[in-house]
Amino acid sequence: MNQVITIPSVSMDHARQAEYELAYQSSSDPWDYASSFDQVRFATIADVAKRWCPAPENSLEVACGLGYQSRLLAEFAETHWAYDYAPSAVQQTRLRCSDLQHKVNVDVRDALNPGYPDNFFDLIVMADIAMDENDDWWLQVLTKAKISLRKNGIMVVSGRIKEPSRREFENRFALLGMSVKERIYFHDRYWFKFRSLVKRVFPKNLSTRILSSSTTLGGLRAIGRLQGVNGSIHFGVVAQVGGE
Ligand SMILES: C[S@@+](CC[C@H](N)C(=O)[O-])C[C@H]1O[C@@H](n2cnc3c(N)ncnc32)[C@H](O)[C@@H]1O
Repeated sequence: MNQVITIPSVSMDHARQAEYELAYQSSSDPWDYASSFDQVRFATIADVAKRWCPAPENSLEVACGLGYQSRLLAEFAETHWAYDYAPSAVQQTRLRCSDLQHKVNVDVRDALNPGYPDNFFDLIVMADIAMDENDDWWLQVLTKAKISLRKNGIMVVSGRIKEPSRREFENRFALLGMSVKERIYFHDRYWFKFRSLVKRVFPKNLSTRILSSSTTLGGLRAIGRLQGVNGSIHFGVVAQVGGE
């Protein structure tokens, strides 16, 4: 039987929203999402999501950032929904999905209070969303997302979650009555070490060129893979509502 949990109440943090908006206004790519690693990360997440939910009637991306992930999810969803609370991110996502605009809905919302109907989505994806916020915030975000998932719906959630926090991360899904069906590893440990070195040593143009090389990424990921689960800084799970 599922444990009964009390959902903490947390109010919207306008200062955080303004910080994110400022980040998007100050840089066209504040977190290097065009880099080869992040492009592979988005593709990996989309592949896993598609394997578990090949033809969602409604899919959602929470905190869509620049829209790379939503672009991939929208390809196999009947209707794709996405939101972010930075208006500039929403605008970027709309642009990136403009060729699929007939089936993509993007707007500004807060993950604490997204306001979608209950039992609506077959698939919800969230990645790298403010997981450094406090536990109450995170539990509230997951709870709101879960309420809008259909029975047997799938959530794919990932972020920079190192050992030993992974067990705690997975436990939150159990608390919500969801079962973890798969763990996702990104083999990115050496990528991040190399990235900070390259950015420190080389001027921006050159570092961008080095970091966009798929050969470099392939080599670094291979070393990460050899390290097993510790070779991944990003970690994710596929969780299912009511799944056994
Ligand atoms: C580091 S970016 C990650 C973007 C994207 N998910 C990815 O993996 O590329 C974090 C994003 O989360 C959004 N965000 C953070 N807190 C949010 C909230 N409470 N509601 C909606 N979006 C939020 C930010 O505006 C930002 O676009």
